[in-house]
Amino acid sequence: MDTSSQISMTTDELFENYVAPTYGRFRVAPVRGQGCWLWDEAGKKYLDFGGGIAVCSLGHAPAALSGAIAAQASSLIHCSNLYQAPNLGKLARLLVDDVIGLPGKVFFCNSGGEANETLYKLARRYGTVQTKANGEPRTEILTFSNSFHGRTMAGIAATAQEKVKAGFGPLVEGFRHLPYNDVEALRTAVSEDTVAILLEAVQGEGGIHVASPEFLKTVAEVCREHDLLFLLDEIQCGMGRTGHLRGWETALGEDPVSAGVVPDAVSWAKGIGGGFPFGAVWFHRRGISNPKNAPELCDLMGPGSHGTTYGGSPLASAAVTAVVQEILQKDLAGHAAAMGDYLRTKLAQAELPFVRQVRGLGLMVGIVVDTDAVVALTNSQETGTPASIALVDALNRAKLLTVPAGTDVIRLLPPLNVTEAEIDTAVFMLKTTFEKLAATA
Ligand SMILES: Cc1ncc(COP(=O)(O)O)c(C=O)c1O
Repeated sequence: MDTSSQISMTTDELFENYVAPTYGRFRVAPVRGQGCWLWDEAGKKYLDFGGGIAVCSLGHAPAALSGAIAAQASSLIHCSNLYQAPNLGKLARLLVDDVIGLPGKVFFCNSGGEANETLYKLARRYGTVQTKANGEPRTEILTFSNSFHGRTMAGIAATAQEKVKAGFGPLVEGFRHLPYNDVEALRTAVSEDTVAILLEAVQGEGGIHVASPEFLKTVAEVCREHDLLFLLDEIQCGMGRTGHLRGWETALGEDPVSAGVVPDAVSWAKGIGGGFPFGAVWFHRRGISNPKNAPELCDLMGPGSHGTTYGGSPLASAAVTAVVQEILQKDLAGHAAAMGDYLRTKLAQAELPFVRQVRGLGLMVGIVVDTDAVVALTNSQETGTPASIALVDALNRAKLLTVPAGTDVIRLLPPLNVTEAEIDTAVFMLKTTFEKLAATA
Protein backbone atom coordinates (compact mmCIF):
# COMPACT_ATOMS: atom_id res chain seq x y z
CA MET A 1 0.00 0.00 0.00
CA ASP A 2 1.23 3.48 -0.81
CA THR A 3 1.54 5.72 2.22
CA SER A 4 1.29 9.49 2.35
CA SER A 5 5.07 9.67 2.80
CA GLN A 6 5.35 9.22 -0.97
CA ILE A 7 3.75 12.61 -1.52
CA SER A 8 6.53 15.14 -1.42
CA MET A 9 6.20 18.05 1.02
CA THR A 10 8.73 20.49 2.36
CA THR A 11 9.53 20.40 6.07
CA ASP A 12 7.79 23.77 6.44
CA GLU A 13 4.65 22.30 4.84
CA LEU A 14 4.76 19.19 7.03
CA PHE A 15 4.93 21.28 10.19
CA GLU A 16 2.31 23.72 8.97
CA ASN A 17 -0.15 20.97 8.12
CA TYR A 18 0.52 18.12 10.51
CA VAL A 19 2.35 19.21 13.66
CA ALA A 20 0.33 20.73 16.50
CA PRO A 21 1.36 24.37 16.86
CA THR A 22 2.17 24.27 20.60
CA TYR A 23 5.65 25.63 19.89
CA GLY A 24 6.58 28.79 18.00
CA ARG A 25 9.34 26.97 16.13
CA PHE A 26 12.32 28.54 14.42
CA ARG A 27 12.87 27.55 10.82
CA VAL A 28 15.91 25.40 11.47
CA ALA A 29 15.61 21.77 10.33
CA PRO A 30 18.34 19.68 11.98
CA VAL A 31 19.00 16.17 10.74
CA ARG A 32 22.42 15.30 12.20
CA GLY A 33 24.67 16.38 15.03
CA GLN A 34 28.17 15.85 16.31
CA GLY A 35 29.51 17.36 19.52
CA CYS A 36 28.62 21.04 19.58
CA TRP A 37 27.55 21.08 15.92
CA LEU A 38 24.33 20.44 14.02
CA TRP A 39 23.62 20.09 10.30
CA ASP A 40 20.29 20.86 8.70
CA GLU A 41 18.59 19.07 5.83
CA ALA A 42 20.27 21.36 3.31
CA GLY A 43 23.70 20.52 4.77
CA LYS A 44 24.15 23.88 6.53
CA LYS A 45 26.22 23.69 9.71
CA TYR A 46 25.22 25.35 13.00
CA LEU A 47 27.12 25.85 16.23
CA ASP A 48 24.67 24.66 18.87
CA PHE A 49 24.83 26.69 22.10
CA GLY A 50 21.24 25.82 22.98
CA GLY A 51 22.11 22.18 23.64
CA GLY A 52 18.51 21.03 23.15
CA ILE A 53 17.55 23.44 25.99
CA ALA A 54 20.15 22.25 28.50
CA VAL A 55 19.66 18.61 27.58
CA CYS A 56 22.64 17.55 25.44
CA SER A 57 25.18 17.56 28.25
CA LEU A 58 27.67 15.48 26.24
CA GLY A 59 26.90 17.19 22.92
CA HIS A 60 25.30 15.49 19.92
CA ALA A 61 25.79 11.82 19.13
CA PRO A 62 28.29 11.21 21.95
CA ALA A 63 29.93 7.80 21.50
CA ALA A 64 29.44 6.88 25.18
CA LEU A 65 25.66 7.45 24.99
CA SER A 66 24.93 6.15 21.50
CA GLY A 67 27.13 3.09 22.17
CA ALA A 68 25.29 2.35 25.44
CA ILE A 69 21.88 2.74 23.76
CA ALA A 70 22.84 0.49 20.84
CA ALA A 71 24.31 -2.19 23.08
CA GLN A 72 21.34 -2.22 25.47
CA ALA A 73 18.78 -2.04 22.67
CA SER A 74 20.06 -5.25 21.22
CA SER A 75 19.69 -7.15 24.51
CA LEU A 76 16.70 -5.74 26.49
CA ILE A 77 14.80 -2.50 25.89
CA HIS A 78 11.89 -2.77 28.31
CA CYS A 79 10.59 -5.21 30.88
CA SER A 80 8.33 -3.11 33.20
CA ASN A 81 8.64 -1.97 36.78
CA LEU A 82 7.10 -5.26 37.94
CA TYR A 83 10.65 -6.64 37.84
CA GLN A 84 14.06 -5.72 39.18
CA ALA A 85 16.19 -4.70 36.21
CA PRO A 86 19.72 -4.83 37.65
CA ASN A 87 20.97 -1.78 35.78
CA LEU A 88 18.18 0.36 37.28
CA GLY A 89 19.37 -0.62 40.76
CA LYS A 90 22.97 0.24 39.88
CA LEU A 91 21.96 3.60 38.43
CA ALA A 92 20.04 4.41 41.62
CA ARG A 93 23.17 3.68 43.65
CA LEU A 94 25.29 5.83 41.33
CA LEU A 95 22.91 8.79 41.74
CA VAL A 96 22.68 8.41 45.52
CA ASP A 97 26.34 7.74 46.28
CA ASP A 98 28.18 9.68 43.59
CA VAL A 99 25.86 12.52 42.59
CA ILE A 100 23.89 13.54 45.67
CA GLY A 101 26.28 12.05 48.22
CA LEU A 102 23.52 11.81 50.83
CA PRO A 103 21.62 8.64 51.75
CA GLY A 104 18.31 8.08 50.02
CA LYS A 105 16.44 6.32 47.24
CA VAL A 106 15.50 7.21 43.67
CA PHE A 107 12.26 7.11 41.70
CA PHE A 108 12.55 6.93 37.91
CA CYS A 109 10.35 8.52 35.27
CA ASN A 110 10.62 10.08 31.82
CA SER A 111 10.59 13.87 31.93
CA GLY A 112 10.97 16.90 34.14
CA GLY A 113 7.27 17.58 34.44
CA GLU A 114 6.74 14.02 35.58
CA ALA A 115 9.64 14.19 38.05
CA ASN A 116 8.12 17.31 39.62
CA GLU A 117 4.70 15.63 39.83
CA THR A 118 6.47 13.14 42.07
CA LEU A 119 7.63 16.00 44.31
CA TYR A 120 4.09 17.39 44.61
CA LYS A 121 2.77 13.95 45.48
CA LEU A 122 5.53 13.42 48.03
CA ALA A 123 4.58 16.74 49.65
CA ARG A 124 0.88 15.86 49.71
CA ARG A 125 1.67 12.52 51.27
CA TYR A 126 3.99 14.09 53.82
CA GLY A 127 1.19 16.50 54.71
CA THR A 128 -1.10 13.59 55.57
CA VAL A 129 1.50 12.22 57.96
CA GLN A 130 2.85 15.43 59.45
CA THR A 131 -0.50 17.16 59.71
CA LYS A 132 -1.86 20.44 61.03
CA ALA A 133 -2.49 20.66 64.76
CA ASN A 134 -6.13 19.61 64.20
CA GLY A 135 -5.09 16.48 62.33
CA GLU A 136 -6.08 17.71 58.87
CA PRO A 137 -3.51 17.30 56.10
CA ARG A 138 -1.20 20.16 55.16
CA THR A 139 -1.29 20.71 51.40
CA GLU A 140 0.32 24.01 50.43
CA ILE A 141 3.59 24.17 48.46
CA LEU A 142 5.42 27.50 48.21
CA THR A 143 7.17 28.30 44.91
CA PHE A 144 8.79 31.50 43.59
CA SER A 145 8.42 34.27 41.05
CA ASN A 146 9.92 33.47 37.64
CA SER A 147 9.96 29.76 38.42
CA PHE A 148 9.25 27.08 35.85
CA HIS A 149 8.30 23.58 36.90
CA GLY A 150 6.76 22.04 33.79
CA ARG A 151 3.58 21.88 31.75
CA THR A 152 1.50 19.29 33.57
CA MET A 153 -1.62 20.58 35.33
CA ALA A 154 0.15 20.71 38.69
CA GLY A 155 3.30 21.96 36.97
CA ILE A 156 1.57 25.07 35.66
CA ALA A 157 0.02 25.64 39.06
CA ALA A 158 3.48 25.38 40.64
CA THR A 159 5.03 27.67 38.02
CA ALA A 160 4.81 31.34 38.95
CA GLN A 161 4.51 32.62 35.38
CA GLU A 162 1.03 33.67 34.33
CA LYS A 163 1.67 32.87 30.66
CA VAL A 164 1.79 29.10 31.32
CA LYS A 165 -1.47 29.13 33.30
CA ALA A 166 -3.58 31.29 31.00
CA GLY A 167 -6.63 29.48 29.67
CA PHE A 168 -6.14 26.31 31.70
CA GLY A 169 -8.14 26.97 34.83
CA PRO A 170 -9.30 25.83 37.24
CA LEU A 171 -5.73 25.31 38.39
CA VAL A 172 -4.61 22.59 40.76
CA GLU A 173 -4.97 24.02 44.26
CA GLY A 174 -2.27 24.21 46.88
CA PHE A 175 0.46 26.39 45.38
CA ARG A 176 1.41 29.90 46.49
CA HIS A 177 4.12 32.04 44.90
CA LEU A 178 6.59 34.23 46.78
CA PRO A 179 9.20 36.64 45.43
CA TYR A 180 12.46 34.84 44.58
CA ASN A 181 15.50 35.73 46.68
CA ASP A 182 13.34 37.67 49.14
CA VAL A 183 14.38 36.43 52.56
CA GLU A 184 11.97 38.62 54.52
CA ALA A 185 8.92 37.60 52.50
CA LEU A 186 9.85 33.97 53.01
CA ARG A 187 10.26 34.24 56.77
CA THR A 188 6.70 35.45 57.23
CA ALA A 189 4.99 33.40 54.51
CA VAL A 190 4.50 29.99 56.07
CA SER A 191 0.90 29.18 57.01
CA GLU A 192 -0.54 26.33 59.01
CA ASP A 193 -1.31 24.64 55.70
CA THR A 194 2.20 24.90 54.23
CA VAL A 195 3.95 21.59 53.78
CA ALA A 196 6.82 22.23 51.35
CA ILE A 197 8.99 24.77 49.58
CA LEU A 198 10.06 24.09 45.99
CA LEU A 199 12.66 26.06 44.07
CA GLU A 200 15.29 26.07 41.34
CA ALA A 201 18.69 27.14 42.71
CA VAL A 202 19.29 28.66 39.29
CA GLN A 203 16.11 29.49 37.40
CA GLY A 204 16.33 28.63 33.72
CA GLU A 205 13.13 29.38 31.80
CA GLY A 206 12.53 32.40 34.04
CA GLY A 207 15.65 34.08 32.61
CA ILE A 208 18.69 32.71 34.53
CA HIS A 209 18.28 33.97 38.09
CA VAL A 210 20.64 32.60 40.74
CA ALA A 211 19.47 32.01 44.31
CA SER A 212 21.58 33.92 46.82
CA PRO A 213 23.37 31.87 49.50
CA GLU A 214 21.37 33.71 52.14
CA PHE A 215 18.11 32.80 50.41
CA LEU A 216 19.04 29.10 50.17
CA LYS A 217 20.04 29.05 53.83
CA THR A 218 16.78 30.73 54.80
CA VAL A 219 14.73 28.22 52.80
CA ALA A 220 16.49 25.39 54.65
CA GLU A 221 16.03 27.14 57.99
CA VAL A 222 12.33 27.86 57.45
CA CYS A 223 11.80 24.25 56.38
CA ARG A 224 13.46 22.98 59.55
CA GLU A 225 11.56 25.43 61.74
CA HIS A 226 8.11 24.56 60.32
CA ASP A 227 8.70 20.92 59.42
CA LEU A 228 8.35 21.59 55.67
CA LEU A 229 9.85 19.51 52.88
CA PHE A 230 12.74 21.28 51.16
CA LEU A 231 12.33 20.39 47.48
CA LEU A 232 14.81 21.28 44.74
CA ASP A 233 14.04 21.30 41.03
CA GLU A 234 17.47 20.54 39.52
CA ILE A 235 16.01 19.71 36.11
CA GLN A 236 17.82 22.47 34.27
CA CYS A 237 20.54 23.48 36.75
CA GLY A 238 21.61 20.05 37.98
CA MET A 239 24.09 17.40 36.86
CA GLY A 240 27.08 19.62 36.25
CA ARG A 241 25.60 22.46 34.24
CA THR A 242 26.34 25.12 36.86
CA GLY A 243 29.86 23.84 37.44
CA HIS A 244 28.93 21.37 40.13
CA LEU A 245 26.93 18.14 40.14
CA ARG A 246 24.55 19.79 42.60
CA GLY A 247 23.28 23.09 41.26
CA TRP A 248 22.35 24.32 44.72
CA GLU A 249 25.91 23.76 45.89
CA THR A 250 27.24 26.09 43.19
CA ALA A 251 24.72 28.75 44.13
CA LEU A 252 25.49 28.30 47.81
CA GLY A 253 29.26 28.52 47.28
CA GLU A 254 30.09 26.25 50.20
CA ASP A 255 29.54 22.72 51.43
CA PRO A 256 25.74 22.33 51.74
CA VAL A 257 25.89 19.86 54.62
CA SER A 258 28.04 22.13 56.81
CA ALA A 259 25.82 25.06 55.82
CA GLY A 260 22.71 23.07 56.76
CA VAL A 261 21.28 23.31 53.24
CA VAL A 262 20.19 19.70 52.81
CA PRO A 263 17.17 19.03 50.60
CA ASP A 264 14.53 16.41 51.29
CA ALA A 265 14.02 15.59 47.62
CA VAL A 266 15.54 16.61 44.29
CA SER A 267 14.14 16.27 40.77
CA TRP A 268 16.29 15.72 37.67
CA ALA A 269 15.61 15.52 33.95
CA LYS A 270 17.12 17.21 30.86
CA GLY A 271 20.95 16.94 31.15
CA ILE A 272 20.89 13.71 33.15
CA GLY A 273 19.76 11.88 30.01
CA GLY A 274 21.97 13.73 27.56
CA GLY A 275 19.07 13.56 25.07
CA PHE A 276 17.51 10.31 26.21
CA PRO A 277 14.05 11.19 27.64
CA PHE A 278 14.45 10.70 31.36
CA GLY A 279 13.48 12.01 34.77
CA ALA A 280 14.27 10.99 38.32
CA VAL A 281 13.66 12.04 41.90
CA TRP A 282 15.92 11.46 44.87
CA PHE A 283 14.25 11.16 48.27
CA HIS A 284 16.34 11.70 51.40
CA ARG A 285 16.69 8.84 53.86
CA ARG A 286 15.64 10.62 57.01
CA GLY A 287 13.22 9.94 59.79
CA ILE A 288 9.64 11.23 60.06
CA SER A 289 8.47 11.91 63.58
CA ASN A 290 4.76 11.24 63.21
CA PRO A 291 3.36 8.65 63.65
CA LYS A 292 6.04 6.93 65.66
CA ASN A 293 6.18 3.97 63.27
CA ALA A 294 6.20 6.14 60.09
CA PRO A 295 8.59 4.97 57.38
CA GLU A 296 11.65 7.05 56.53
CA LEU A 297 11.04 9.79 53.97
CA CYS A 298 12.64 7.75 51.18
CA ASP A 299 10.07 5.00 51.80
CA LEU A 300 7.03 7.25 52.19
CA MET A 301 5.90 6.66 48.61
CA GLY A 302 5.26 2.96 49.11
CA PRO A 303 3.99 0.26 46.70
CA GLY A 304 1.04 1.47 44.63
CA SER A 305 1.48 5.13 45.54
CA HIS A 306 3.13 6.21 42.31
CA GLY A 307 4.51 4.84 39.07
CA THR A 308 5.04 5.14 35.35
CA THR A 309 5.28 2.37 32.79
CA TYR A 310 8.55 3.35 31.15
CA GLY A 311 10.35 4.83 34.16
CA GLY A 312 13.93 3.55 34.43
CA SER A 313 13.57 0.89 31.72
CA PRO A 314 16.70 -1.16 31.04
CA LEU A 315 17.31 1.03 27.97
CA ALA A 316 16.85 4.29 29.88
CA SER A 317 19.01 3.05 32.74
CA ALA A 318 21.83 2.07 30.39
CA ALA A 319 21.67 5.41 28.57
CA VAL A 320 21.59 7.51 31.74
CA THR A 321 24.30 5.46 33.43
CA ALA A 322 26.54 6.17 30.44
CA VAL A 323 25.83 9.91 30.64
CA VAL A 324 26.34 10.18 34.39
CA GLN A 325 29.52 8.05 34.28
CA GLU A 326 30.93 10.28 31.55
CA ILE A 327 30.12 13.43 33.57
CA LEU A 328 31.74 11.93 36.68
CA GLN A 329 34.76 10.28 35.08
CA LYS A 330 35.70 13.27 32.92
CA ASP A 331 34.82 15.78 35.63
CA LEU A 332 32.57 17.62 33.20
CA ALA A 333 31.13 19.65 36.07
CA GLY A 334 34.60 21.04 36.75
CA HIS A 335 35.08 21.60 33.04
CA ALA A 336 31.72 23.43 32.89
CA ALA A 337 32.89 25.72 35.70
CA ALA A 338 36.12 26.54 33.86
CA MET A 339 34.41 26.97 30.48
CA GLY A 340 31.71 29.10 32.10
CA ASP A 341 34.38 31.46 33.44
CA TYR A 342 36.07 31.51 30.05
CA LEU A 343 32.77 32.27 28.29
CA ARG A 344 31.91 35.11 30.66
CA THR A 345 35.39 36.63 30.24
CA LYS A 346 35.14 36.44 26.46
CA LEU A 347 31.64 37.95 26.48
CA ALA A 348 32.85 40.84 28.64
CA GLN A 349 35.84 41.45 26.35
CA ALA A 350 33.63 41.36 23.24
CA GLU A 351 31.68 44.43 24.40
CA LEU A 352 28.55 43.32 22.55
CA PRO A 353 25.97 45.95 21.69
CA PHE A 354 22.51 45.66 23.34
CA VAL A 355 23.89 43.71 26.32
CA ARG A 356 22.83 44.95 29.74
CA GLN A 357 24.09 42.08 31.86
CA VAL A 358 25.51 38.59 31.65
CA ARG A 359 24.37 36.34 34.51
CA GLY A 360 24.34 32.70 35.54
CA LEU A 361 26.67 30.01 36.76
CA GLY A 362 28.92 27.62 34.84
CA LEU A 363 27.42 26.87 31.45
CA MET A 364 23.99 28.20 32.33
CA VAL A 365 24.43 31.70 31.01
CA GLY A 366 21.87 34.43 30.38
CA ILE A 367 22.61 37.47 28.24
CA VAL A 368 20.18 40.21 29.22
CA VAL A 369 19.55 42.65 26.37
CA ASP A 370 18.18 46.14 25.99
CA THR A 371 14.79 45.23 24.56
CA ASP A 372 13.87 48.72 23.35
CA ALA A 373 17.06 49.02 21.29
CA VAL A 374 16.57 45.59 19.72
CA VAL A 375 12.88 46.04 18.99
CA ALA A 376 13.57 49.40 17.34
CA LEU A 377 16.07 47.79 14.95
CA THR A 378 14.17 44.65 14.03
CA ASN A 379 10.71 44.58 12.54
CA SER A 380 9.48 43.15 15.87
CA GLN A 381 7.44 46.23 16.62
CA GLU A 382 4.94 45.32 13.88
CA THR A 383 4.95 41.59 14.57
CA GLY A 384 5.03 41.89 18.36
CA THR A 385 8.09 39.60 18.46
CA PRO A 386 10.00 39.97 21.75
CA ALA A 387 13.61 41.16 21.54
CA SER A 388 14.93 37.80 22.77
CA ILE A 389 13.23 35.94 19.93
CA ALA A 390 14.25 38.49 17.31
CA LEU A 391 17.88 38.10 18.36
CA VAL A 392 17.78 34.32 18.57
CA ASP A 393 16.31 34.35 15.07
CA ALA A 394 19.10 36.60 13.79
CA LEU A 395 21.66 34.31 15.46
CA ASN A 396 20.03 31.24 13.87
CA ARG A 397 20.49 32.87 10.48
CA ALA A 398 24.15 33.46 11.37
CA LYS A 399 24.29 29.70 12.24
CA LEU A 400 24.58 30.03 16.01
CA LEU A 401 21.79 28.34 17.97
CA THR A 402 20.75 29.82 21.32
CA VAL A 403 17.57 29.78 23.44
CA PRO A 404 15.34 32.72 24.41
CA ALA A 405 14.02 33.16 27.97
CA GLY A 406 11.30 35.70 28.56
CA THR A 407 11.43 38.84 26.45
CA ASP A 408 14.94 40.05 27.25
CA VAL A 409 17.24 37.08 27.83
CA ILE A 410 19.22 34.86 25.48
CA ARG A 411 20.41 31.65 27.08
CA LEU A 412 23.68 29.94 26.24
CA LEU A 413 23.52 26.28 27.27
CA PRO A 414 26.29 24.50 25.36
CA PRO A 415 27.34 20.91 26.10
CA LEU A 416 29.37 20.46 29.30
CA ASN A 417 32.34 19.31 27.17
CA VAL A 418 32.39 22.46 25.01
CA THR A 419 35.90 23.67 24.09
CA GLU A 420 37.53 27.10 24.30
CA ALA A 421 37.73 27.16 20.50
CA GLU A 422 33.96 26.60 20.24
CA ILE A 423 33.34 29.35 22.78
CA ASP A 424 35.60 31.70 20.78
CA THR A 425 33.58 30.92 17.65
CA ALA A 426 30.26 31.46 19.43
CA VAL A 427 31.35 34.81 20.87
CA PHE A 428 32.60 35.89 17.44
CA MET A 429 29.21 34.96 15.91
CA LEU A 430 27.37 36.86 18.65
CA LYS A 431 29.57 39.88 18.11
CA THR A 432 29.26 40.00 14.33
CA THR A 433 25.48 39.41 14.43
CA PHE A 434 24.79 42.02 17.12
CA GLU A 435 27.15 44.58 15.55
CA LYS A 436 25.58 44.07 12.12
CA LEU A 437 22.16 44.71 13.62
CA ALA A 438 23.40 47.72 15.59
CA ALA A 439 24.88 49.14 12.37
CA THR A 440 21.39 49.29 10.81
CA ALA A 441 20.50 52.08 13.28
C1 LIG B 1 13.46 23.82 36.00
C2 LIG B 1 12.57 23.00 35.13
N1 LIG B 1 11.66 22.21 35.70
C3 LIG B 1 10.83 21.44 34.96
C4 LIG B 1 10.89 21.46 33.58
C5 LIG B 1 9.97 20.59 32.79
O1 LIG B 1 10.69 19.54 32.21
P1 LIG B 1 10.10 18.72 30.97
O2 LIG B 1 9.99 19.67 29.84
O3 LIG B 1 11.08 17.60 30.75
O4 LIG B 1 8.77 18.21 31.41
C6 LIG B 1 11.82 22.29 32.95
C7 LIG B 1 11.85 22.38 31.48
O5 LIG B 1 12.30 23.35 30.92
C8 LIG B 1 12.68 23.08 33.74
O6 LIG B 1 13.58 23.89 33.19
